[in-house]
Amino acid sequence: MDSILVRGNGPLNGQIPIAGAKNACLTLMPATLLTDEPLTLTNAPRLSDIRTMTQLLGSLGAEVVPLQQGQVLALSSHDISNHTADYDIVRKMRASILVLGPMLARDGHAIVSLPGGCAIGARPVDLHLRALEALGADLELRDGYVHAKAVGGLKGAVFEFPIVSVGATENALMAATLAKGTTVLKNAAREPEIVDLAQCLRRMGAQIEGEGTSTITIQGVDRLNGATHPVVTDRIELGTYMLAPAICGGEVELLGGRISLVEAFCERLDAAGVSVVETENGLKVSRKNGRVRAVDVVTEPFPGFPTDLQAQMMALLCTAEGTSVLEERIFENRFMHAPELIRMGAKIEVHGGHATVHGVEKLRGAPVMATDLRASVSLILAALAAEGETVVNRVYHLDRGYERVEEKLSACGAHIERIKA
Ligand code: EPZ
Repeated sequence: MDSILVRGNGPLNGQIPIAGAKNACLTLMPATLLTDEPLTLTNAPRLSDIRTMTQLLGSLGAEVVPLQQGQVLALSSHDISNHTADYDIVRKMRASILVLGPMLARDGHAIVSLPGGCAIGARPVDLHLRALEALGADLELRDGYVHAKAVGGLKGAVFEFPIVSVGATENALMAATLAKGTTVLKNAAREPEIVDLAQCLRRMGAQIEGEGTSTITIQGVDRLNGATHPVVTDRIELGTYMLAPAICGGEVELLGGRISLVEAFCERLDAAGVSVVETENGLKVSRKNGRVRAVDVVTEPFPGFPTDLQAQMMALLCTAEGTSVLEERIFENRFMHAPELIRMGAKIEVHGGHATVHGVEKLRGAPVMATDLRASVSLILAALAAEGETVVNRVYHLDRGYERVEEKLSACGAHIERIKA
């Protein structure tokens, strides 16, 4: 298995292009199942999770052809020839559950494996199922699979999510586009990935209003058509690379970045003493002198501080002046990077959903192990600011969500290289 070697660094300077969003692309791809016409996604990221979704859609009879080195995906699902999403693929990637709503909406039946737990928490899919039941689906859980039927098709309904869920909102939104009548989704997720999905579905002929607010109204239509849609910028990749100059010092321009994608995060960076300015081409981030200041962080659904940037922010706060408290409110087990950061000399105490970080002047390089995608990149950020060498093992997590990480960082002067297994 590959690992990444990082040598502690001075200031970083340069430009980093930000890719299309993994989490938007993973919900846009299953939208192909809603139509027999071609769907083309541009600005797609080149990641192993995208290849897993390609494999899953292929197993259902859809065709996904990567063009322009994978930056364009040409999808078509003339027929759905197999309505079963197998455990072997679903267990690799939870976003696989997003094929359930579209298959059910188009053909009135689907069988999808339950994803099971994952490293950052139990992550049930009950809200996906309850929303689809509200739309008239008959669901049965048997042998680890959800067997779903909607004889005569799905029917529009009012459904209020008891807690905000990105994936459940996406599944229900896709399903409702082909349901009979009007669906109102209340307490819906407001993430930019939901807005992007709604915009794509509208290009495909869906009638949707209110995306980006907590109430989304969908007027069902008989059929959807093909479309071409650019995937929105990855706000988590953006935030991750914004932290590189914040941690190492220097000035880096993130091409394609916008403050509106990461406003709550920018507010915390500003409080920590990191400068962020919007430019013609993106965002310029700089930290010129001294250590950053400690700040407290609470993760929340959008527009709050994203859970997917909590690990990376913790890496920054490890060397801040003072004590910071990070509260994780989305996932119950998302501090697994803390013990690894402690191995690099960080002072962190974790109590349930709170982590207290006492800033130290310097971290030290060490061999560390990544436990999930965002944890692995937080270790790389910490390593850039550490004295000596760090080897980050188990980088397959990283490849799920960050394309060409070594290239992007070394273009700004970082000493980082991949060691092939
Ligand atoms: C999406 O996961 C993202 N994944 C996650 O990104 C992200 O961390 C998360 O949203 C929160 O922003 C994709 O978009 C593919 P949720 P999702 O449903 O949709 C609970 C990354 O690193 N819940 O909004 O699965 C759940 O356990 C990843 O890129 C239920 O209880 O997240 C969690 O506590 C990791 N029942 C909370 O809701 C359900 O049926 C929010 O989860 C669904 C969720």
